[in-house]
Amino acid sequence: MKSFTTALFAFALFCTSQFSYAQSLKSNMKSTETLLKQVASKMNDASKNQENAALVAKMIANFEVAKNQTPDAGSFSEYQALMNQSMLIMKELQDAFNRNDNAAVLSIMQKINTNKKEGHDKFK
Ligand code: HEM
Repeated sequence: MKSFTTALFAFALFCTSQFSYAQSLKSNMKSTETLLKQVASKMNDASKNQENAALVAKMIANFEVAKNQTPDAGSFSEYQALMNQSMLIMKELQDAFNRNDNAAVLSIMQKINTNKKEGHDKFK
């Protein structure tokens, strides 16, 4: 009976670990990529600025969570510093959309891509 209970407990733990996938670093990154693509597809359409600002707010919320999740590679403190930098750039983007400054948007999007590449080179 005891070993059955232990096996049941182990199985329950296994199931929990599988379902926690929904909030993993990987899924936060995937969801941010989807949001970024949505923004990129209409970043020059000023009539979509408020919508884009709201999408960027979701990207930031994902990164607030992802910042506290441990990557497989690299130093955690450096990872967190780069994630903070990443969120500052996203806030710049959100501000540009909020003040209808579409001229600034392209260069901020380029900064996001450079920052993303650095993050993936060092921590992925
Ligand atoms: C807006 C910027 C970024 C986007 C859109 C993005 C997107 C992605 C995507 C699509 C993946 C692959 C997920 C998969 O395997 O299906 C990924 C993985 C990853 N990214 Fe990012 N990323 C960004 C910035 C960063 C930054 C700045 C860092 C580090 C400071 C970082 C760290 C990682 C790590 C560690 C993984 C591997 C996660 C895992 O499989 O456990 N990313 N990212």
